[in-house]
Amino acid sequence: MFEAIFFFLFASVTGNFLVEEECLNYTVYPVQYELTIIPFLYKENSYYHCEQTITVIANANVRVIELDAKELEIQPGSIKVLDGDIDIVSDARPNEYDEINGKLYIYLREPLKIYTPTNAQFYYIKIVFTKRVKKDSTGVFLVKYYEDDERNMKYMYTTRLSPSKAKFSFPCFDNPRFEAVFKFRVYVPPPRPDMQYANTSLVIAKELKRESSRDNYTIIEYMPSPQVALHQVGFHYSQFTNKQAIAKSTNDTLIIWAPEDKLKYYDFILKFGESIINLIHSYSTINRPLLYGPINIVAVPTNLNGYEIGSWYLLTNGANRMANVEQLTSIKQIDRMTFELAQQLCRIWLGNPGELERTRWKEEWFKEGMATYFAYYFLAQYYYGPLNERYRQPLDAYGLHMKHTAMAVDWHRSTPALEAFNNSLAIEIPSRYKDLVTMKTGAILWMLENWLQSEKFHQALVKYINSRRGKYISLQDFVSALDYDTVECSHQFFNGSTASRILKSWFHQPGYPVINVQVLRDRTPNAVQLKQRQFSFTQENRGETEYLIPISYLVQNRENCFNCYRPRFTIGKQTYTFSENLDGGWIILNRNASGYYRVNYDSATWRLIGKTLREDMHSIDEMNRAEIVNDVLALYVAGDLDLAVATEVLDYLDKETSAVVWNSVISGFELMKIEGAACHMDKHMFWEWEDFMSKKVSKIYKKLVAWDDVDQQPNARLFRSNIVTFAAVVNHEPCLKYLRYMFEDSRRGKQILDPDTREACYYMLSNDTNNHFVFRKLNPIEEEDRMIADHKIRERYRFLIKIPYGVPRPMPLISTETPSTQPPVTEKMSIPDNSVAHTASLLLVLLSLLLTFLR
Ligand SMILES: *[C@@H]1O[C@H](CO)[C@@H](O)[C@H](O)[C@H]1NC(C)=O
Ligand SMILES: *[C@@H]1O[C@H](CO)[C@@H](O)[C@H](O)[C@H]1NC(C)=O
Ligand SMILES: *[C@@H]1O[C@H](CO)[C@@H](O)[C@H](O)[C@H]1NC(C)=O
Ligand SMILES: *[C@@H]1O[C@H](CO)[C@@H](O)[C@H](O)[C@H]1NC(C)=O
Ligand SMILES: *[C@@H]1O[C@H](CO)[C@@H](O)[C@H](O)[C@H]1NC(C)=O
Ligand SMILES: *[C@@H]1O[C@H](CO)[C@@H](O)[C@H](O)[C@H]1NC(C)=O
Ligand SMILES: *[C@@H]1O[C@H](CO)[C@@H](O)[C@H](O)[C@H]1NC(C)=O
Ligand SMILES: *[C@@H]1O[C@H](CO)[C@@H](O)[C@H](O)[C@H]1NC(C)=O
Repeated sequence: MFEAIFFFLFASVTGNFLVEEECLNYTVYPVQYELTIIPFLYKENSYYHCEQTITVIANANVRVIELDAKELEIQPGSIKVLDGDIDIVSDARPNEYDEINGKLYIYLREPLKIYTPTNAQFYYIKIVFTKRVKKDSTGVFLVKYYEDDERNMKYMYTTRLSPSKAKFSFPCFDNPRFEAVFKFRVYVPPPRPDMQYANTSLVIAKELKRESSRDNYTIIEYMPSPQVALHQVGFHYSQFTNKQAIAKSTNDTLIIWAPEDKLKYYDFILKFGESIINLIHSYSTINRPLLYGPINIVAVPTNLNGYEIGSWYLLTNGANRMANVEQLTSIKQIDRMTFELAQQLCRIWLGNPGELERTRWKEEWFKEGMATYFAYYFLAQYYYGPLNERYRQPLDAYGLHMKHTAMAVDWHRSTPALEAFNNSLAIEIPSRYKDLVTMKTGAILWMLENWLQSEKFHQALVKYINSRRGKYISLQDFVSALDYDTVECSHQFFNGSTASRILKSWFHQPGYPVINVQVLRDRTPNAVQLKQRQFSFTQENRGETEYLIPISYLVQNRENCFNCYRPRFTIGKQTYTFSENLDGGWIILNRNASGYYRVNYDSATWRLIGKTLREDMHSIDEMNRAEIVNDVLALYVAGDLDLAVATEVLDYLDKETSAVVWNSVISGFELMKIEGAACHMDKHMFWEWEDFMSKKVSKIYKKLVAWDDVDQQPNARLFRSNIVTFAAVVNHEPCLKYLRYMFEDSRRGKQILDPDTREACYYMLSNDTNNHFVFRKLNPIEEEDRMIADHKIRERYRFLIKIPYGVPRPMPLISTETPSTQPPVTEKMSIPDNSVAHTASLLLVLLSLLLTFLR
């Protein structure tokens, strides 16, 4: 049976990979790795012993085999290269291990014979080695944790081989594009008093059989894994126990692994995972299991940075990113953990090595974006979904979140277009571009959904995904299929632009545009002029752009509106002018707020919008209000909107009660800290903005916190938590007072610190230089919040140090009481520069003091 699998897989290796141009000059290819692992867990000096056989084929008559191996103790004399029964390693000079560069060279007596379909020549490389596993080892490492109480220290092994750390665990051919079959065998040693006993061993394939050896080792043999790349390999060894959940319509099983006494904390995430799998199946309408076998999720009691992108059968994440401990886990932490798991399950669903038929994506960035879009889609159904399955919950708040997260990074001159990642594997995308790839692609898909209308979009999408099961998915193929399925919609676009042409224009160009809207009000009907250019926070990179932008809009007086109800036309590079009856009212572009662009209006239109917001804000729905406030803050920072207009539009915020809008304000306010922005921010200005926001947040803060709002629904908790953190960040005095009071109470043991306000509390504490408070030892869940708060403080100081002092303006920022006719403000101040250096160095000293204090 093994031979059959082997040859089948091998055929697909040659099919997929030998033709790839870049691989052509690799001379030796791995086909299968067989690993026999004997692990030993000790308090000090843990290690595993491993016997390895790599089956390879050759592509050239080479006499040297070059393997990657780092921090391994290779047994001299154990290395063999077998051609049948004959070892062909050179006698005179068998091998050389260059430990510094992590290379193992094996010299051969005779050149390798080239593999051809008619002459299937395999070689077997045998190596025996020992790996010392420490707490801080790379790739595979020891984790120490406590069971039951603070005395019972335990140990375990876990691996994180992404993106290229496999060579720290076993000798291999370290090329992320090579795929091979892995066969594991684990010898579990019998219990011994000096050794930590472990009985849970997980690899990337199901157990085949278990037997006892004569010396009482348990030998676990695993099935051959599917073909995987090195970064997808994993090994876990511990004394964990598990709990499982099974999906409704397929036998997809989710298994959570954790220490026995902690298992109860993972009930929430287990149930959540099960719900998401059920949602996936009901969305895809076909009952195709996600993979052959269960999905194992290991809660590793250490700090791990999310799931590994390529994992599908054996997932690992930090325990604090999965546990839901009552009275300790905050709603923001729940929010993060549900997103991470939903995203990982979507990755698995969209294609994984363990499927019955493998689905592969040619452009992995696109898969990442799609998985992110779907993660938010399923989260929206999970949190807000009604009982009626036919009805789709819109992405709204999540859509805005994706868009604003992406926009905050997608503007710099050096930011690449999404297509620039065409040839990158997902693991090769640098972490600084992770948000760009996942959130921007997701946001653009959301924009597409709104153009095509949700129902049509999802029908086309699910049809496409189902039809490509077990095949290749490429961007090209996707957009053609989409055009075909949505062809009846394409007439909506003014001049026959299809969905594919529009999408391509966004994937092909980096960044995003701002549309300048000029309403010529001196004629009837009014003329509206639209012109796009690159949006940038700095002075550079503001050239013309040619995004195809389907425009949708609403107007204040909508009786005679021509084009209000559907996106109708796209604009390219030229100024586009159309007529519309505005009857002295405003026009707002980007209906549903889903367009991946910003809009700047002429100041008369801005003032009309501001007036409506103050007088009757509900006549503009919350998605559009959310878009407007974020655009206003961004345009102000970019120097495109002057202070007077910006504050006039934002002035209504004290009446605002929508969570979506406030989230937009919060992410927009973050933009103030962009360095080198064209608004020439100085310290006084920055403090004034904080002051302004502090006044604006006052009312909603009172409503949510001071008046003891008791709503414990997840979205209500999240809103409250976001507002408290924001109020602390802008130094809202009642909030700081409240936090100090809460903290004192918790310190005196009167009550437990509310986890939802903990991050804000740590922020207040870290900032409060007068408070000589030393943190008690925090648990990992609290520690996560402390690190976030710490980071925020540092970012704020770092920014403040870099900007000039400026001078206080004669008139502080205008607030509600002042009418819209304002004194001319000198908004861009030029600063006498000699005091700056002095202040900066002073602040630096303060900062370093603060930092040492925080250590
Ligand atoms: C492939 O060959 C070219 C030219 O001989 C060489 O420059 C390049 O580094 C090789 N690539 C790899 C991955 O070995
Ligand atoms: C491993 O040991 C623990 C307790 O020592 C036990 O609860 C668990 O069932 C064992 N697991 C297996 C797979 O034998
Ligand atoms: C294996 O276990 C059995 C029973 O537990 C014991 O009698 C025997 O001595 C053990 N053998 C070795 C080699 O430790
Ligand atoms: C699930 O497993 C049960 C029992 O093993 C089997 O009878 C059933 O057909 C399976 N269902 C699916 C959808 O595979
Ligand atoms: C867009 O917004 C309108 C109301 O402004 C709403 O009726 C429509 O359903 C929204 N479309 C989507 C796709 O959310
Ligand atoms: C990326 O792939 C798309 C779709 O196949 C193609 O149209 C585009 O030209 C490629 N771009 C780059 C930079 O390779
Ligand atoms: C129509 O399509 C072209 C690209 O072929 C584009 O340049 C133009 O701006 C589009 N829209 C209008 C209104 O012409
Ligand atoms: C942070 O420190 C600054 C300067 O010391 C102070 O003005 C501000 O009120 C503090 N903020 C908080 C949240 O304590």
